[in-house]
Amino acid sequence: MSKETDKILGHGADNDGIEEYDNPLPTWWLGLFYFTIAWGVLYAIDYHFVSHRSQAGEYDAEVAAALAALPQRPQVAAIAAPTPASAEAGKAVFETNCVACHGADLRGGVGPNLTDAEWIHGGTYADIQKTITEGVPAKGMITWGPILGAEKIAQVAAYVHGAGGGQ
Ligand code: HEC
Repeated sequence: MSKETDKILGHGADNDGIEEYDNPLPTWWLGLFYFTIAWGVLYAIDYHFVSHRSQAGEYDAEVAAALAALPQRPQVAAIAAPTPASAEAGKAVFETNCVACHGADLRGGVGPNLTDAEWIHGGTYADIQKTITEGVPAKGMITWGPILGAEKIAQVAAYVHGAGGGQ
């Protein structure tokens, strides 16, 4: 333990007569103090040069984890060509989801006619799949990708493509 002394610092005259002893700090307190300094130095070395941690790195890792946890945006199906079977399956998808805007005969209503050779977004099988998957939200065509999934989109695109205007 540190020794108490009766030495007085002697600035009582400046401080309303309050005097102060000049006692050394307790050893345990100084030990703790030097320990925190050593700890800080070692921690900084470990943080920057050994573990290579950083706030930017932690942020990037969290963003990557959050993105991985999100449902993946369905990709346009890699189905090269429509088949009669897929077009037949697509008819049912169309009747459930699309007739309200494109009409039961596909000749249009709120949405454009899908049986003629006029295409706003392209009339190839791949174009049609892309339009259905991504939608045209600004014009009222729904983004069907997350709703239907790639397989049903490939089927309904086959149906639309085979309805007369497909290129
Ligand atoms: C809420 C109404 C609505 C529904 C439901 C809807 N569509 Fe559309 N669709 C539209 C509108 C409006 C457009 C025109 C977008 C534009 O002007 O760019 C469109 C455009 C399209 C096009 C592009 C036409 C072109 O000329 O390029 C295709 C293909 C299409 N829709 C297919 C579908 C299919 C398949 C479904 C069902 C899964 C469907 N749509 C459901 C409103 C709808």
